[in-house]
Amino acid sequence: MKIGAIALVYVGVSSAAVIQKREPQDPKGIPKGVGFGGLMSSILPEIKVAGRTTLKPQLRQEAKREKVHVVQNNCSFRGSLDPNGQAGFHIIKDGICKNCTVLSGLTGLEYEDGTPADPSNGIYKHHILSYDITKPGILPVSLCDSADPSKSANPGLPFDMGAGFIGGSEDTGEPLMFTSQDGKYLSGFLVGNDDKYLLATDLVNYNNATRNVFVTMDIEWVEGHVGQDAVPNLMSVTGCKLAEPKISKDGPAITESQKFPILVDGSIIAMKGHMHNGGDRMELSVNGKEACISKARYKDGVIAGMSFCDTAIPVKKGDYVTIRSVYDLVKYPLRAWTEGGSAHDAMGGNDVMGMVTMTFAVEPKRA
Ligand SMILES: *[C@@H]1O[C@H](CO)[C@@H](O)[C@H](O)[C@H]1NC(C)=O
Ligand SMILES: *[C@@H]1O[C@H](CO)[C@@H](O)[C@H](O)[C@H]1NC(C)=O
Ligand SMILES: *[C@@H]1O[C@H](CO)[C@@H](O)[C@H](O)[C@H]1NC(C)=O
Repeated sequence: MKIGAIALVYVGVSSAAVIQKREPQDPKGIPKGVGFGGLMSSILPEIKVAGRTTLKPQLRQEAKREKVHVVQNNCSFRGSLDPNGQAGFHIIKDGICKNCTVLSGLTGLEYEDGTPADPSNGIYKHHILSYDITKPGILPVSLCDSADPSKSANPGLPFDMGAGFIGGSEDTGEPLMFTSQDGKYLSGFLVGNDDKYLLATDLVNYNNATRNVFVTMDIEWVEGHVGQDAVPNLMSVTGCKLAEPKISKDGPAITESQKFPILVDGSIIAMKGHMHNGGDRMELSVNGKEACISKARYKDGVIAGMSFCDTAIPVKKGDYVTIRSVYDLVKYPLRAWTEGGSAHDAMGGNDVMGMVTMTFAVEPKRA
């Protein structure tokens, strides 16, 4: 993929008003200080919760857990990163807990009868992303792999999207963690009394017929604000260079990042890779020490999950992380394109990504 994390967000943002495919994106064209949350919540359609299922909490005894079915998408038209994909942008006002601390969250896709919509029945999840647009975002680690502070941080992002919330893609079989896997680390995503969310979806329908699918959000939470604020951070091995990770038809191809400066004091509590078909593993180091190897897991020839690392590594501003991506096209072929051949992205590159989601726990700023 020629675009990285930020550009992925841009594709979402700049496609929001008019959904078109393969328009070149110009991030600089979006004015700074546009009041993104307010603007989006006034122009995008609101979606209501279509149903909810109570589930058994897995992390803490006093927790609650629910699967919320938030939107019905008819996977029938075009306008995404894939010619047969569907991009969707919605605002969620109600349905997610309020004045609460979210411990973990997993997004999914289901048919009306509750069966999963996945590659085995022709539905591919390019991505489902959500943002709490009421909550100010914190950038815990630079998205650019540069030791030069003026080139670090997030030079391209022209406005505050809010705080990254739960999301995923086809490789996301496991929840995004805002605490440790045993639930004991005292942190979580702090939600206010009146938070609104942006839900950005990009789904691909390989079937020759419309399919109605529900986006689900399986969320475990405790009431009130408990512990540190957990901040997820999605970053690419190629930093903000908007380049794609290396691939080779002959076997393993490694992309190594430079150093990504850490911008806050806190702890890195969880890490997980994100790759597309062809990916073998993502490797992460903190201050030069190996911290996590996130291995891809395949099912029916499609990437189905990546292993998760519980870390709890205390970090200080000025520390750094480095990332490596390993693609192996001999072991795992690229995803097939709906119109034949292998998939490519909105900019005509290969449909490959080498990304990592890291969750930082920081001292809360919210009341
Ligand atoms: C999906 O299609 C059904 C019938 O085909 C229609 O009733 C429904 O409004 C559509 N939903 C969306 C979100 O477009
Ligand atoms: C898709 O469906 C249409 C109408 O049902 C049919 O005419 C067409 O041949 C189908 N295409 C494929 C590739 O199955
Ligand atoms: C938030 O929840 C906590 C715990 O349930 C409660 O003590 C507090 O009063 C609530 N705060 C607000 C602003 O509703």
